[in-house]
Amino acid sequence: MTAAAAIRVQGLEKSYNDLHVLRGVDFTVPTGSIFALLGSNGAGKTTVVKILATLLRQDAGTASVDGFDVATQQQSVRESISLTGQFAAVDEILSGRENLALVARLRHLKDPGTIADELLDRFSLTDAGDRKASTYSGGMRRRLDIAMSLIGNPPVIFLDEPTTGLDPQARLEVWQTVKELADTGTTVLLTTQHLDEAEYLADQIAILHEGRIVVSGTFAELQQLLPPAKVEYVEKQPTLEEVFLAIVSKSPTSREE
Ligand SMILES: Nc1ncnc2c1ncn2[C@@H]1O[C@H](COP(=O)(O)OP(=O)(O)OP(=O)(O)O)[C@@H](O)[C@H]1O
Ligand SMILES: [Mg+2]
Repeated sequence: MTAAAAIRVQGLEKSYNDLHVLRGVDFTVPTGSIFALLGSNGAGKTTVVKILATLLRQDAGTASVDGFDVATQQQSVRESISLTGQFAAVDEILSGRENLALVARLRHLKDPGTIADELLDRFSLTDAGDRKASTYSGGMRRRLDIAMSLIGNPPVIFLDEPTTGLDPQARLEVWQTVKELADTGTTVLLTTQHLDEAEYLADQIAILHEGRIVVSGTFAELQQLLPPAKVEYVEKQPTLEEVFLAIVSKSPTSREE
């Protein structure tokens, strides 16, 4: 039962000065699954991701990634993950091919050029491979960013708001990519504001609210939390958005009247 968890988080706490952002976060992500962390702006999603990626130290609690403790085995964690941040890591003045080859070189891999070409092909960027990344559309840039994060085949990848700012077509392309990753055994933790994204992609969804995971489960399980609204003879199932809003607006401190 314990063997198959790629990410395990227990009692995680983090404050920034007086702001107690994480107040005891618990969740587990099975290997090869897609886990979506939902929450309003400022809920602490990026904070969780940064702790898991060893960019930030927690105040209390434990977390492990790929079996390595994020506080005491930072180097092993770093070798097991990649992080695509809310703000892309793409270098604007380099071409797509150069960006990819650079990362491959930084990771000490053999034949960076071949690795770059394979990834350009896989992400439908071959034709644009020699153009500067500054000329790419938002969707192309995001695809390049995700391609860069896959170099070296990390078993766990973190995607912090992977589709923010993308048009529907580009979002679909990123979704496809994420699904394919999970199909090949990569564990994906993504944060998102787009509830349809979590609904479509995630095996497990967790809602982070006021410092804790207030609900988690499959989309079908979350739907069970609200009764279906009856409209004459038609039964309507609640959308994830309805479940989210009902849960987030339940607590008295979430809105000031
Ligand atoms: N370095 C920091 N110093 C002080 N406060 C911070 C710092 N980083 C984050 N915060 C605060 O902590 C809270 C959580 O931030 P975080 O970025 O984790 O939220 P988020 O859920 O990722 O939000 P968003 O949806 O806007 O990306 C916010 O109130 C934010 O202002
Ligand atoms: Mg964030």
